[in-house]
Amino acid sequence: MKARLLDLAGLFATPLRPSHYLELVNPLWTTHRLQARVESVWDETADARTLTLRPGRGWRSHRAGQFIRVGASIDGLRHTRTYSISSAPERGDECITITVKAVDGGRVSRHLVRQIKPGDYLPIGLPQGEFVLPEAMPVRPLFITAGSGITPVMAMLRSYAALGRMPDVTHIHYAPHAYDVIFGNELKALAAAHPGYKLKLVHTRELGAELSQRRHFSAEQLAELCPDWAERDVWGCGPAALLGAVESHWNQAGRARHLHLERFQAVLAPVPADAAGGHVSFTTSKCETDADGHTPLLRVAEAAGLNPAHGCRMGICHGCDAVLVSGCVRDLRTGALIDEPGDKVQVCVSAACGDVALAL
Ligand code: FES
Repeated sequence: MKARLLDLAGLFATPLRPSHYLELVNPLWTTHRLQARVESVWDETADARTLTLRPGRGWRSHRAGQFIRVGASIDGLRHTRTYSISSAPERGDECITITVKAVDGGRVSRHLVRQIKPGDYLPIGLPQGEFVLPEAMPVRPLFITAGSGITPVMAMLRSYAALGRMPDVTHIHYAPHAYDVIFGNELKALAAAHPGYKLKLVHTRELGAELSQRRHFSAEQLAELCPDWAERDVWGCGPAALLGAVESHWNQAGRARHLHLERFQAVLAPVPADAAGGHVSFTTSKCETDADGHTPLLRVAEAAGLNPAHGCRMGICHGCDAVLVSGCVRDLRTGALIDEPGDKVQVCVSAACGDVALAL
């Protein structure tokens, strides 16, 4: 009956849909785009804040470790970024949390940390991502995190705790100082309440610059903090330098398949020295410009004054997909060329390879 009424209303609402009018009453009732109301904000550290969000109609529950796209309007421009959900799916109040760290030069992160307040509405996407625990619980996980890389793992730990099934976990977490540890008190409380959860906090700048170098990830440190590391499955999230060191250590040990990494940035392949760009047509926007052979086309479009939809800016969310009309692009992660008209192009990790036209 409700659906029929909405259909009927739709006849009179054209070209707008009833959902657009419902949005005026309550943004959480819309069906044409998913939004969330900010229920509360909580400062975790001096530069990291947790936002509790109540998603509206169309939301579906996440798996611990997944991320969402979050939109923000800043100075009239729409921006989107991806953030891991830091709450457990078992939270029980139909809210989720994201925990955002304000990074230097990060317009969106600083906006979310400094400007957003309870009662605001944010456009969000559905949960995505493969950085999750297997349905059949691993026996002995090793978590390696740094900075805000703790957020997806926090959802996993909270989920374990909520289900009352904390396994034998070792967790190595890096932060510059004790006061920089996001969720620091909660992590310690979890360790105190669950003997299976072994928390190893490493404060990389606590004792001065010279010693700090020795306190970043190393084989010796790993052997000291987690002697049985070779018998565990690993979930790691943090800056590129940490994950690069972890990946090479596990590769050398022949245990790459036991490694699950969530990166903040895409790992790019070397661009051939003779890679040339070309003339770029963004056909939907009727915008033309030139590009070199290594700048992501998302940045080319933004430099040309466009504001294309996007999310992670690192090739995982597909929020930037555009259809190739003609020409060729290079996937900057793999070096693979895409030249089939109609193919989808992730413009955040693709560069022009000669002249190219994209439906964007
Ligand atoms: S913005 Fe996420 S894949 Fe391009």
